Amino acid sequence: MNEVLTVLNGCNTVSVTDGSGGDSGKGKVVDLFTPWADIIARGTGGDNAGHTIVRGGKVFAQHILPCGILFDAEGKQSIIGRGVALSPRALVKELTMLKKNGHSYNNLRISDQAHLIMPHEIALDLLGETNARGIGSTGRGIGPVYTHAVARHGLIVNDLLNPFALAKKLHRSIEKTRAQFSAYDADHVKEALHHERLESGRYWAGPQKLFDENAIFEQYLVYAREFAHLIADTDEIMLEAVGKKRILLEGAQGLLLSVKYGTYPYVTSSDCSPEGLAAGVGLTRSVIDRNFSVVKFLPTRVGKGPLPTEIGGAVSERWCNPDDGDFFDAERELKHFGVTSVNDPDSLRQSYALRDRGGERGVSTGRPRRMAWPDMTLLRYARHIQGQDIIITKPDPYWELERIQVCTQYRCIGPKYRIADMTYERGDVIADLRRPDSILLERIEPVYETMDGWLEPLDGVQCYRDLPLKLRDILRRMQALSGARFPLVSIGPSAEETLFVT
Ligand code: IMP
Repeated sequence: MNEVLTVLNGCNTVSVTDGSGGDSGKGKVVDLFTPWADIIARGTGGDNAGHTIVRGGKVFAQHILPCGILFDAEGKQSIIGRGVALSPRALVKELTMLKKNGHSYNNLRISDQAHLIMPHEIALDLLGETNARGIGSTGRGIGPVYTHAVARHGLIVNDLLNPFALAKKLHRSIEKTRAQFSAYDADHVKEALHHERLESGRYWAGPQKLFDENAIFEQYLVYAREFAHLIADTDEIMLEAVGKKRILLEGAQGLLLSVKYGTYPYVTSSDCSPEGLAAGVGLTRSVIDRNFSVVKFLPTRVGKGPLPTEIGGAVSERWCNPDDGDFFDAERELKHFGVTSVNDPDSLRQSYALRDRGGERGVSTGRPRRMAWPDMTLLRYARHIQGQDIIITKPDPYWELERIQVCTQYRCIGPKYRIADMTYERGDVIADLRRPDSILLERIEPVYETMDGWLEPLDGVQCYRDLPLKLRDILRRMQALSGARFPLVSIGPSAEETLFVT
């Protein structure tokens, strides 16, 4: 705790975001910083996110609740802000789990303005993935819910407090989207509406009407009973707290998935940057004293979209995102690949071996995560958008790697592509990526510097100086190349496995 206080010394408001493609271990960092904070707030995304916290030997996999909820009994306030897309079903499920495990949530407050995820939005999201144009969404309704919010027929949490508004807005929103369903095969629509996330068909009203609005209405009021007393004007709570209380803002997803700063269109539908996070809790970026971007030593990505240093390249992308959606879970992958080495000369097998060692599967979906080499061009981009502080996580599973490829910059392989006043042509070196434009990123190849692996497990390492010299060399090189500073390095899931760089 003392070391956390030293790192956060002088700060009132701190944010923790992901500086890459998500799943970097933000949950652990937020958990580590939480004893410092009075308020822990989420402002973006919904139950498409997933964070795992290991506490007292127990593993908590949460999707919608802020990590700080586990400190409720100590008086810490948890906030679900206005920018969040809230699935009442997912929320109630997590609250029930908490209760079961003897945790309270008395200090949780949920913004009346948060977007409410409705069944027709989940159905549209699921259907959007049934054709090849899908981007690998998690199927939680996130895209449609934010779309409907700007299209002016979305619902908000406050509607749960006013049954007449809930019924009216639900009807209007379903009517507004009805035409979209006719674009899909009737069997697919029926199948989507029988998904367990849609109560396994309870809302199904036949091929004409599609949705049983009464069933939805009643079920949503049942959910609301569980948390209506927690709905509040959280903007006011946050505004009041600025400068007076210690605020910890908890990001969701990652910078490359930000609708504003990510690899559009392969993004989620909220802005995962510190700016989007602050807005999502009713504040502005300027109140954040320090942002920490969490980035995995070997970054990953789930779903489709650019990952320039992907180990196994396009073959790995296809492997992890098969056209028929029938991805291989851990058991099937093991059967397929057998026992593999992280130094396998075949890059697809190597990427599998690394995924296996790192346990890299989606918390929300179980999908295999695509594995990548450290990418300093993207790290420089993260530093540029999110700030200097980068927390590197999870080098520990990869100690057997004999060689690490560190991407220092990209080289354009063409064809020619223009962004603003810059034209990129075959042979051009790209050191600074001002836009992670997904078309540009298809036209580049990474330039690597090969570094030796450290070849010894990190178990029991207590301080940064005790890390193997070769790993420290790599981290030093990564800092020099990215221009970022690494105030701490995480070498395991628990709080104790954190090395502060003094
Ligand atoms: P959506 O957020 O479900 O619409 O999915 C959009 C894209 O973001 C897909 O490629 C997802 O795999 C990705 N995505 C959404 N949430 C997460 C996350 O928490 N971690 C990593 N990827 C995510």
